[in-house]
Amino acid sequence: MFRIVKKERLTPLIYRMEVEAPRIAASARPGQFLIVRTEERGERVPLTISDYDPEKGTVTIVTQEIGASTADICSFGEGQSFADVVGPLGMPSDFVGMTAGQLEGQRYVFIAGGVGTAPVYPQVKWLHSKGVPVDVIIGAKSSGLLIYKEEMAGYCDNLYVCTDDGSEGFHGMVTGMLENLVTVQGKRYTQAVAIGPMIMMKFASLTARKLGLPIVVSLNTLMVDGTGMCGACRVTVGGRTRFACVEGPEFNGYEVDFDEAMRRQTMYRQEEKSAEPHVCRIDLRSSD
Ligand code: NAD
Ligand code: FES
Repeated sequence: MFRIVKKERLTPLIYRMEVEAPRIAASARPGQFLIVRTEERGERVPLTISDYDPEKGTVTIVTQEIGASTADICSFGEGQSFADVVGPLGMPSDFVGMTAGQLEGQRYVFIAGGVGTAPVYPQVKWLHSKGVPVDVIIGAKSSGLLIYKEEMAGYCDNLYVCTDDGSEGFHGMVTGMLENLVTVQGKRYTQAVAIGPMIMMKFASLTARKLGLPIVVSLNTLMVDGTGMCGACRVTVGGRTRFACVEGPEFNGYEVDFDEAMRRQTMYRQEEKSAEPHVCRIDLRSSD
């Protein structure tokens, strides 16, 4: 069982939970994700890792209540336990495998949208620990929905906050801020990373391409097994079918077919809306 040692409400619908999972905490790297099941036969919900502490043996997840399964996760309190937490899954971010020489001279800009801001945090921390300069752009619909401002500020060189309604920081979307930084303020970056809603990652990739800036995106596709067997997470990248769970979740933003990815992401929206708390009929461990 995986006990929740700390739970905090970050916005009306977003919760942060620190969960005991010592083996995952020992091997997790930035960019990877977990699959959580609240009960033995519950739905398998993929969530990007938002922090990990090998010494305490905990991993942190940040969940937005948007459907039956995420509401189920968010209903758990401190001291309660999830039946199952599997991970770390997927490939770590590219920079994790880079040598000190390869990281030298790099300058990263992160584009973080809504609840997608949380998984940016371990990436920024990692790069900061290697002495790589990092700027972070965080966007949300309005001031009260911004998350991870204080946490991020401790590890990045510059933090730029944007709100769609202008209630805090730059009045506009994260893509407008990125364009402003490069074309008006003359900032120079070697690599961009975007994590957030699929539509944001699509437009961040188009903006980055216009600016001649390489960009990586983290795809939150549908997932079932998370191990490359079911094909639920397939995406087209560079004209080829790729499985986000084992080959991603991070891919070159220039090459992702976002329109297809968005269509696939909404395939079960109606079922999700009308869902009773889900009970999975497929037991992946059974042999019959
Ligand atoms: P949101 O809709 O409030 O958008 C956040 C920010 O993204 C906006 O403030 C804006 O700056 C930017 N944005 C949105 N649409 C844009 C567009 N068309 N062009 C340019 N910028 C745009 O975000 P939310 O409600 O928190 O979204 C949650 C979504 O994030 C969910 O769909 C969830 O699945 C996804 N998510 C993704 C990841 C990941 O790993 N990619 C992780 C967690 C959550
Ligand atoms: Fe099944 Fe990726 S989630 S193959």
